Amino acid sequence: MGIAFTPFTLGGLRLRNRIVKPATFEGLCPGGLVSDALVEHHREVAAGGAALTTVAYASISPDGRSYATQILVRPGAAPGLTRLADAVHREGAAAALQVGHCGYFANPRVIGGRPLGASRLFNTYGLTFARPAGEEDLARVIADFAAATRIARDAGLDAVELHFGHGYLVSQFLSPYTNRRTDRWGGSLANRARLAVEVLRAARSAVGPDFPILLKVNLRDGFAGGLELDESIEVARWLEAEGATALVLSGGFVSRTPLFMLRGEVPVARMAASQERWHARLGLTLFGRLLVQAYPYTEGFFLEEAKPMRAAVRLPLVLLGGVKSMETVDRALSAGFELVGMGRALLHDPALPRKLARGELVASGCVPCNECIAEMDRGGVRCTRRGG
Ligand SMILES: Cc1cc2nc3c(=O)[nH]c(=O)nc-3n(C[C@H](O)[C@H](O)[C@H](O)COP(=O)(O)O)c2cc1C
Ligand code: SF4
Repeated sequence: MGIAFTPFTLGGLRLRNRIVKPATFEGLCPGGLVSDALVEHHREVAAGGAALTTVAYASISPDGRSYATQILVRPGAAPGLTRLADAVHREGAAAALQVGHCGYFANPRVIGGRPLGASRLFNTYGLTFARPAGEEDLARVIADFAAATRIARDAGLDAVELHFGHGYLVSQFLSPYTNRRTDRWGGSLANRARLAVEVLRAARSAVGPDFPILLKVNLRDGFAGGLELDESIEVARWLEAEGATALVLSGGFVSRTPLFMLRGEVPVARMAASQERWHARLGLTLFGRLLVQAYPYTEGFFLEEAKPMRAAVRLPLVLLGGVKSMETVDRALSAGFELVGMGRALLHDPALPRKLARGELVASGCVPCNECIAEMDRGGVRCTRRGG
């Protein structure tokens, strides 16, 4: 069975094994506050044997949200976060909070204004133009990331994951596709990476050297004109030097290549049914398969692209993407990745790590149909084939 069920120390945090539940947006926090359903969701993951569960997609500020059901990190959210951390700890696992800012993917109806972006680009979600961030906006964003990290730490979370991938605000600065700036925040790779570096630096200085700060990063955006692997490796070296504890490796850009990070089926019918506006619903039904590019699913689909990153940096790396069997867990760990992430496999069956450890199962039954994606805004994320 290899080292999968041996402990690992991440910064100052001891993990009981090598399996992490990555962020899968829950859609369970109306009012931006932790709900009982969110606590139970993560308690169940913890009881299932994973070492670390990641609470998804919390926003550092009101203007960073694309959903009204995201946690909005502020002092008033702390008691709920403490309750969640306590429930996870009682099951022997650790809890991380993923914090981010959606940038120009923020929903104007949720934030009550124009979304903030790197450059003036059309926001295909909210159907508005992004407002290019000025120096004051960026100073506020950096301070908000640091404040959110401190609030999470003080509330009892064991780690924070800064969202630097998937096309959200920090990723919009990293990507040449969305960053057309000519000031010190755009142009060269060092300039495009400035926001990532400054956010990490501020977060690190807010919590000191030992608190685990993970970064979710793109290996590449997945389309011509986006961030490429050689650039993301260079940026990773800078982030390592700034005190990142670990990188969670992903890829894709929600407006261009949303299925790059998932692979598998395009759940057109369910996505269409969850769209609020009738014309969006009709459009998705008719054109969804053309609009959303599909990618074939293979187990460990980021493994080969992640190997050059493994060779380039020394900090711990979380390999995710189609990790759903004991064989793929072992393959990733023997390739030098310290931890694996299991997203959909644990939505399908949160008890999978325990069952793998006992030899009761060798693989998850996740298909992957990707229908869980559409469930996020239909009352809360869930596997439509759970138990199957
Ligand atoms: C329903 C769902 C919601 C997701 N939400 C998030 C999210 O909020 N933040 C994030 O960084 N990744 C999110 N992801 C991506 C996962 O963290 C992970 O990178 C991806 O599912 C690939 O891992 P897997 O093959 O183990 O599922 C989501 C994935 C799914 C299926
Ligand atoms: S709905 Fe269930 S089976 Fe389908 S991809 Fe999501 S977790 Fe896997």
